[in-house]
Amino acid sequence: MYQWLDDRLSIGKLYAKAFRKAFPVHHSFFLGEITLFSFITLVLTGIFLTLNYEPSIRPVSGPLSGGQEVPAAYYSILYIDSLPFGAVIRSLHHWAAHIMIAAAFLHMLRIHLTGAYKNPRELNWIVGVFLLVLAIVTAFTGYALPFDNYALTATKIGYEIGAAAPWVGKLLSDILFAGELSPTNTQTIPRLYPIHVLWLPLTLIALISLHLVIMIKQKHTQPRYAEKVAPGKIVGVPLFPQQAAMMGILFLVYIGATTFIAGAFLAHPVQAFGPPTANTPAVKPDWYFLWIYGILQIIPANWRFEFLGATFGPQFWGGILVPTLIILGALAIPFLDYSKEKQRYLELPSRHPFRTSFVIGMLMFYIMSTLAGYKVDLKLSNELLWVLVLIVPIVTGVVSYLLIKAIYSKDWNQEVRVELKGKGPATD
Ligand code: HEM
Repeated sequence: MYQWLDDRLSIGKLYAKAFRKAFPVHHSFFLGEITLFSFITLVLTGIFLTLNYEPSIRPVSGPLSGGQEVPAAYYSILYIDSLPFGAVIRSLHHWAAHIMIAAAFLHMLRIHLTGAYKNPRELNWIVGVFLLVLAIVTAFTGYALPFDNYALTATKIGYEIGAAAPWVGKLLSDILFAGELSPTNTQTIPRLYPIHVLWLPLTLIALISLHLVIMIKQKHTQPRYAEKVAPGKIVGVPLFPQQAAMMGILFLVYIGATTFIAGAFLAHPVQAFGPPTANTPAVKPDWYFLWIYGILQIIPANWRFEFLGATFGPQFWGGILVPTLIILGALAIPFLDYSKEKQRYLELPSRHPFRTSFVIGMLMFYIMSTLAGYKVDLKLSNELLWVLVLIVPIVTGVVSYLLIKAIYSKDWNQEVRVELKGKGPATD
């Protein structure tokens, strides 16, 4: 059988060329794989949801809504929750989306902290930035689909931000949401549905494939141990069977852990908020939008002016300008920190104090902006929040820089080696 297939498909050659590719082993490299597993889980659970979901808000009634007339999309979520394991699969979809965005973000941090974006991987960094943005946009387009009061209110926050883009915002929002987002707009769900289940996932599949092809072609940056084991050589385990077995085990652990989380913390039942009404409940966006929501809370309402028929107001400054600058900054990183030489090995964050403390400062900015999202709940003043959002991250970055410089300016290993040398071989 093997011979028969080999004659036709040259499996032996394929095995020697592709499947024996060396993969470096390092725990931080699993973050990219976890992101990938989350995407696969989203597609699989999404197929199940699609088979049982009706993308329409025509009024329907039935035993699940107690005879009450509700939008069909809303009713189909009641139906999904009533199926055996239906609520768990819906929750798995919900949690996998959170994990995918968190894992992609952590994966990006590991690439940044170790300088893996440098020559020749600039292009893959750029593809990565688009992947993260696209993953967040895809999650956002899924918000409204259950069509309960919570879903509509949370989506409305994003709708209003999008509509605030100068000149084109209204047009773009109208295209994405098929007009004004409201409980009665019958076109919004049929418009968002194919975007969420088809166009954005297809784009993600294309970009993820490109990302992985580039990664395989350029080869991974090598962990530090590779320099000691075999300098100048690629060190790692073959893709098949060792790396594949490790990925298989990681996938099973991932599915086990995520299913546990999904079962223990079910996505909120739509009945908790009921179908959309004119009364909007007090909801906050998910953690990956909460920092933008926080910035919007502290920008004074009178920061507004008109220019050539467009309004530049708080929604624009906080919801569009700040995220756009951050995305542009992220895209520019490999060119601001450019290396002529090709990057072979991971760099130690401790040896790059500026880069490391910049990342720490940015993380503090994220935490403080998120805290600003709780301005009303925690009764925090605007003045205090401005200090927390602007000054604290800068101070944290500077202090981290000084600390890293002070701690790592010495070669501690060198000192330990000298000490050990003086005392002869270490014994117990
Ligand atoms: C949907 C999102 C993403 C998926 C599925 C994904 C997947 C992966 C995988 C599986 C790897 C190889 C294993 C590893 O190094 O962790 C990888 C490497 C890489 N990723 Fe991503 N990634 C995503 C997002 C990102 C983001 C947001 C960035 C940065 C902005 C990025 C930049 C890179 C780079 C530069 C490499 C090569 C790393 C090296 O050679 O050390 N990726 N990605």
